[in-house]
Amino acid sequence: MPTLLHIDSSPLYGRSISRELTAAFVAQWKASHPEGRVVNRDLNAIAIPPITAEWVGAVYTPEVARTPRQKEQLLLSDSLLAELEQADEYVFGVPMHNFGVPSVLKLWIDQIVRVGRTFSYADGAPKGLIVGKSATFIIATGGIYDAPTRTASFNFVEPYLRSVFGFLGVTDATYLTAGGTSALNQGHDRGAFLAPHLQAVQAHAQSLQGVAA
Ligand SMILES: Cc1cc2nc3c(=O)[nH]c(=O)nc-3n(C[C@H](O)[C@H](O)[C@H](O)COP(=O)(O)O)c2cc1C
Repeated sequence: MPTLLHIDSSPLYGRSISRELTAAFVAQWKASHPEGRVVNRDLNAIAIPPITAEWVGAVYTPEVARTPRQKEQLLLSDSLLAELEQADEYVFGVPMHNFGVPSVLKLWIDQIVRVGRTFSYADGAPKGLIVGKSATFIIATGGIYDAPTRTASFNFVEPYLRSVFGFLGVTDATYLTAGGTSALNQGHDRGAFLAPHLQAVQAHAQSLQGVAA
């Protein structure tokens, strides 16, 4: 039974472009995988704490030697990691906040990037341990950061996600960006803005049919 992990990180809920697009992806994915399971992880609905010195100490203590307190420190990380490991496919909704990913997504990433679990340094070289997964990142940005634009170098969302997920071994990744959402604040019609992005997201979700079946 294929499993899709659906992660959203926009605080805007009903007004969010990325959430509307990930919802369309999930609907299409469910239609293509009637026997599939979807796990939702809404990063705005939980409070992931920043990592601490104790947390880092626990991560770098061999599992067999961890104290009960250290094990407790890693419980949230362990459960988020289990969701990641047990899913076959991922879809992420990512709003651009201050040219980067939202802080709730960064807090989640800090919990799941763990030596020995999601990456290793065997033979002196970094090796991603999250392999055989397919990921779709749906990004919404107020401005436009396409390659030839003057502001392209301000975009730390897609380059960061490519780096960190590539490091973890998630190399089968698709990035779909709805750029220029600030036009909606100036009266641009939401339906008209969304239409091509919904089409692209649905087409992509449909193209994944059978990937994790
Ligand atoms: C706190 C905050 C910071 C933002 N920072 C940027 C930014 O740096 N660059 C940009 O183009 N848009 C920025 N925006 C606009 C969002 O990227 C835009 O509204 C996008 O649609 C957010 O995705 P969402 O609709 O799924 O929430 C920001 C919005 C918020 C709420």
